[in-house]
Amino acid sequence: MGKDIRYSSEVTDQFVKHAIDYVGAGVVITDPSLPDNPIIYTNKGFEELTGYPAEEIIGHNCRFLQGEDTNRDDVTLVRDAIRNEEALVVELKNYRKNGEMFWNELEIYPIYLDSEKKTFFVGVQKDVTQRKLNEELVSHYLEEVARLSTPIVPITDSTSILPLIGDVDDRRLNHILERVGEHVQQTGEKNFILDLQGISRFHSGIHQGVLRLYQLLDMMGTRMIITGFHPKMAMESVRQTDFSEQNIKFYATVKQALAYLEKENR
Ligand SMILES: Cc1cc2nc3c(=O)[nH]c(=O)nc-3n(C[C@H](O)[C@H](O)[C@H](O)COP(=O)(O)O)c2cc1C
Repeated sequence: MGKDIRYSSEVTDQFVKHAIDYVGAGVVITDPSLPDNPIIYTNKGFEELTGYPAEEIIGHNCRFLQGEDTNRDDVTLVRDAIRNEEALVVELKNYRKNGEMFWNELEIYPIYLDSEKKTFFVGVQKDVTQRKLNEELVSHYLEEVARLSTPIVPITDSTSILPLIGDVDDRRLNHILERVGEHVQQTGEKNFILDLQGISRFHSGIHQGVLRLYQLLDMMGTRMIITGFHPKMAMESVRQTDFSEQNIKFYATVKQALAYLEKENR
């Protein structure tokens, strides 16, 4: 049990006010009973984060931190949460007084004050710019890796080849389907060669993926040719959907496939 140490509420209010100034985040309080839900209090952290001194912004709605690049759907989420008096966490692109952009992890929640007989909103703002930039960088590199691992090479006006190398998981398969779809739509090619020679580990997912790719190409009027067919794949094909029932051409090597296409064109 704690000892009975009591200070007057004026003293504790002072402590709390100072503590809020030092929390290392922006804190604002707004009064939704006033027109346009204006700020009635900001702490020092808010001033440091945004560059706006309290006297400039008290009486204004917080939306002055937004800019053209702020995602409107996220702003709608904030508006709805306020209307429904719900708590919310959202990441918004905001702008400091000097125009610099920062990512604001905004937390808002309603607080009902008995003494005032009304609800206020508290907002806590954290600068998460570095984390967001790191996330953007990671997703950019993942995109790049996915792009480099789907090297579609045009070999004639009517034919391209995709040599698949290494391990192909579901994520990569989906990316391949997307990229091949876009490529064939742009080029309107007649033939698409999928070379499976370099696949390091065969699994049933690849079988399914090849079938989906075939269906996609078929719908787009492009013929699929498979080279480097794996014996394990042939066995899988017998157990699952039989490739031989589809209009797919198979060749042991890319060279043989190209020789066939050349003969066909003569
Ligand atoms: C307590 C509180 C703090 C807020 N803090 C921010 C903020 O830091 N940055 C921001 O872009 N919007 C903030 N907002 C949201 C805007 O004030 C406003 O509610 C939002 O833009 C949706 O309304 P509107 O569509 O009328 O602009 C805050 C809202 C409240 C209630």
